[in-house]
Amino acid sequence: MAAMGFGKSGEQQTAAHASGVGPPEEAICRQRLVRLLEIPKAELHVHLEGSIEPATLQEIDPSLSLAEIEAHTTYEDFAGFLRAYVWVNKRLETPEHYALALRRLASTLSAQGVVYAEITLSAGVILWKGQDLEAIYSALWEETRRAPIEIRWILDAIRQFGAEAARPVVEFAARARQRGVVAFGIGGDEVRGPAREFAEVFHEARAAGLRLTCHAGETAGSESVREALAIGAERIGHGIAAIEDEALMAELRERAIPLEVCVTSNVRTGVVASPATHPLRRLYERGVPVLINTDDPALFGCTLASEYELAGRLGFSETELEELAEASLRFAFAEPGR
Ligand code: ADE
Ligand code: ZN
Repeated sequence: MAAMGFGKSGEQQTAAHASGVGPPEEAICRQRLVRLLEIPKAELHVHLEGSIEPATLQEIDPSLSLAEIEAHTTYEDFAGFLRAYVWVNKRLETPEHYALALRRLASTLSAQGVVYAEITLSAGVILWKGQDLEAIYSALWEETRRAPIEIRWILDAIRQFGAEAARPVVEFAARARQRGVVAFGIGGDEVRGPAREFAEVFHEARAAGLRLTCHAGETAGSESVREALAIGAERIGHGIAAIEDEALMAELRERAIPLEVCVTSNVRTGVVASPATHPLRRLYERGVPVLINTDDPALFGCTLASEYELAGRLGFSETELEELAEASLRFAFAEPGR
């Protein structure tokens, strides 16, 4: 399990260990992890392309060495992370590559108690690469139907590619609604591609029956979250900048708009200094609906279970973690089990 360098022991663990009455810290950690793995939960913010482990990348391209993969997926900041993400995307050349990535992700999620996942596909990148989105999505849909968990899809356009490039993503997503696509979203660089430029495509997506999510308030401030809400976003990817804006938090609370929070992602991309200073707990205490997610587990060295475990170390009780798991199912765009 990737602990991402965050201090291990909560107060209770330290006390139990010091008194010599409890099992050693590691055993407690394992027990807690086992319980977290057993809670039925949903993963609502995970990018297929960011979930591909080095070993799978090597299966996709046997000419790649582990050193080469590491060199291309090591980064210092958000811009570097986006370059790493694009590098991984460029290794995916055929529908079978995407299908293999999904097979691996579905099996990993299933082993963590995930019963339902909404997986984001960077459809905007596929079109940018000049690839056949229909062929790739058909392969993914076939794999989806064989998967050990229930999977639905969010097709993502890239903010910095502009609104015109997003339109064919919406059109494809609308046509694929009968084949597991539930939502349209935008990701990438929120500074270079403000949400207001996507107002019309979001409107078209909504009119076509798609649900709407939007990465916002990750690298930009709370005004970026406000813009995402203004164009109709029903969930916010990250949204952590809301912590600086009381009125915005009140709106998220009152409208029950959840933030898809990804703690390790934010630390690894450098938008938050450390897990201890992450606003997850403070957002929760102000009543903002929060959800626990991984974003790009392979690129961030985390798993959904490790993110729940990390939330536990950031002050969430066992009961609260169970409530977060329950919320992940409740805020799904489709109804799990149907
Ligand atoms: N695409 C994949 N991961 C992302 C992130 N954390 N922010 C924006 N776009 C992304
Ligand atoms: Zn994301």
